[in-house]
Amino acid sequence: MTRAPKERIEVDDEVRVILGAMVHGGHCIAHPLGHTAFVRHGLPGEDVTLRITEVRSKFVRADVIEVHQASQFRIEAPCNWARPNGCGGCDYQHIDLTHQRELKGVIARESLQRQAGIDVGPITVLDLGDDRGLGWRTRMRWSVDGSGNAGLLGARSHGVLPIDTCLLASPEITSLQITDQDWPDVQSVQATLDSLSEVSVWADRDLVSGSRKSVQNVRHRTWQIESTGFWQVHPNAAASIVDHVLDFGAPKAGEDWLDLYAGAGLISAFLGEAVGQNGNVTAVESYRSAVRDGRRALRDLPQVKFIDSDVEQWPLPSVVDGVVLDPPRRGAGVQVMESVALAKPRVIVYVACDPVAFARDAAFLLAAGYELARFVVLDAFPMTQHMECIAKFTPIGVR
Ligand SMILES: C[S@@+](CC[C@H](N)C(=O)[O-])C[C@H]1O[C@@H](n2cnc3c(N)ncnc32)[C@H](O)[C@@H]1O
Repeated sequence: MTRAPKERIEVDDEVRVILGAMVHGGHCIAHPLGHTAFVRHGLPGEDVTLRITEVRSKFVRADVIEVHQASQFRIEAPCNWARPNGCGGCDYQHIDLTHQRELKGVIARESLQRQAGIDVGPITVLDLGDDRGLGWRTRMRWSVDGSGNAGLLGARSHGVLPIDTCLLASPEITSLQITDQDWPDVQSVQATLDSLSEVSVWADRDLVSGSRKSVQNVRHRTWQIESTGFWQVHPNAAASIVDHVLDFGAPKAGEDWLDLYAGAGLISAFLGEAVGQNGNVTAVESYRSAVRDGRRALRDLPQVKFIDSDVEQWPLPSVVDGVVLDPPRRGAGVQVMESVALAKPRVIVYVACDPVAFARDAAFLLAAGYELARFVVLDAFPMTQHMECIAKFTPIGVR
């Protein structure tokens, strides 16, 4: 279909359009006045009026301000701040929870098709026990404005909104009423809920209440990690990721494994138990305090060795049996993926929080002689566009 030629378009222009597909990033595609627009607060197929919020050379951004014909999947957003000029945190609150997961499945599938040329077929996104998709955040971070008021940031903005309650926050965090307090001379406030239901609150780098270390229990194991350090945000995510990694990787006694971007060794611990004292797990992590916390939590597992390094700087061994990667949002990149493939593992398990970066890395693995053997998506971030993908790769023909 040929698109209409571009007409002049400006911020605050209002245009009526039919919305196209939901894409990665939490927006639908539309073509107002011949421009490509990324539109928040809409659903595919809806007849809407949108308002332009930003004009760039190649695309524009817009918000739905009126719905003329709603999608059958549209619901009333539970939070009043999930609206144009509102909070930047939730992209999907106006969408029925089951359909949120269907959309995430489509986005993950299309990312793999587009970036890696693989069609995994329809994906069922697994929930982590949420029936309403609210109250799951065990970590919250508020920004503080110049008057000492804590709030949440607006969409694509540094403006602090006076949002007194975030419906995604766990009830234990909400009960602290952080936004009712004054935070003079503070940039941000952070709260972390641990497995013992204790909440630690930090104002910038100062501990305000709770403990420096938060206790995290997964299966029969316990970590004490720096409460501002990395841990999975959804309370059921860590256990579910471990279950899938062990299922996909099937580590065996005596094997050598790598756990890249290991954090405090969540995955290394269970790999270590599986390979036993005659095996080896090397956990590579660049954040010092995560390495310290990991060494302490895994001291009963001498077969697990932590390396305090950037993955990119660390020379990977020439042969290993299995590799787990759980990189940050940007993915691991071609150099790391090629080094992983060169070590000829019988299995690679990739845990990803960004489906597009993951799909890019998957393409490097395919080029290096691996194929996608299994793939699952977890709805670890309900009400938002985010998801957690877990994939198993094996050498081509050796499934
Ligand atoms: C998504 S977290 C995963 C941690 C762990 N697998 C878990 O689930 O708890 C990514 C981790 O990679 C670490 N990291 C980020 N960039 C890194 C790099 N270049 N080299 C090594 N570790 C890195 C971060 O500090 C963080 O702990």
